[in-house]
Amino acid sequence: MTVKQKRVFSGIQPSGMLHIGNYLGAIQQWVAGQGEKVNFICIVDLHAITVPQEPAALRRQTRELAALLIAAGIDPQQTTLFVQSHVRAHAEGCWVLNCVTPLGWLERMTQYKLKAQKQESVLTGLLDYPILQAADILLYDTDEVPVGEDQKQHVELTRDIAQRFNGLYGETFVVPKPVIRESGARVMALNDPTAKMSKSDFSRGHAIRINDSPDEIRWALKRAVTDAIGSIGFSDEPARAGVNNLLQIYELFTGQSRAAIEAHFVGKGYGALKGDVTEVVVEALRPIRERYEQLNADPDELDRILAIGAAQARAVAEPKIREVMAKVGFVLPTA
Ligand code: AMP
Ligand code: TRP
Repeated sequence: MTVKQKRVFSGIQPSGMLHIGNYLGAIQQWVAGQGEKVNFICIVDLHAITVPQEPAALRRQTRELAALLIAAGIDPQQTTLFVQSHVRAHAEGCWVLNCVTPLGWLERMTQYKLKAQKQESVLTGLLDYPILQAADILLYDTDEVPVGEDQKQHVELTRDIAQRFNGLYGETFVVPKPVIRESGARVMALNDPTAKMSKSDFSRGHAIRINDSPDEIRWALKRAVTDAIGSIGFSDEPARAGVNNLLQIYELFTGQSRAAIEAHFVGKGYGALKGDVTEVVVEALRPIRERYEQLNADPDELDRILAIGAAQARAVAEPKIREVMAKVGFVLPTA
């Protein structure tokens, strides 16, 4: 008997340059799972426009993100890498799921509340964002959704929506589960270790972007907030968040055990810690940055890769959306 390979689906917004939080919290996991599972990675441009975007910038960032993902190790031969708006079933699935989801389920989403606070006028699409995400996931009979901690609630909502649809119309959707890595789930801001490193914070020294130059990386790490305690060790204490964050970054980039890392830093000061973290980060990001620059110089090649990804995604999502439409009672178009 052959065991069905697990389906893995994740998405990422083409809004702003990726940082090492995205890389360590999400992309590294996606790369590691390639080959052994069936992977779909979606560049979610439909999600991006839930807050205002400049059209030319959105177009540029979509291609840049594709280039960066490939440079970071997403292999289009092993992973279906595609742009969400290229596959219509996502918008169609969102509509149908809108019509089985109570409004109250959306109003309590933490990310919605946080984002809505920051806007003067909130677009309807922002509230609907998690349902579009549910459509993304459910159209592919996804088993696992590898994401950072902040997305757990959306994946749980997706499970609720899948169960509700299955209850109303009969077994249709696989109920997916979130996969969240312990370490790396929350990479904190360098200039404020109480806040998550975020794409939308442009203050200098907040984040390390994946294509930052070595000088920029050095600058940011030199100024990273630490504490006045002086010893170097992993810790959950809020007062030690800065040092812990640097150690976690070191851990994830080197793959060394915590015990080995703590032993390495015994008797050393924060200057040495920052110096070693800098070296590790610069060396890990160097090949990614170089490959990114090559890919970015060839937009036709990128578009070709994305067209192949879209065709592969459609081959899965289209039969699924037809099944969904049939279940709710639509007359399916012939041909
Ligand atoms: P976003 O930057 O919100 O588009 O997120 C893209 C992916 O990166 C999602 O899976 C997030 O959970 C993950 N992510 C974003 N910021 C961080 C962070 N600071 N630490 C760990 N993972 C993150
Ligand atoms: N909301 C996710 C984020 O901000 C992006 C996303 C969209 C996603 N669709 C998805 C993640 C489907 C996982 C699965 O990070």
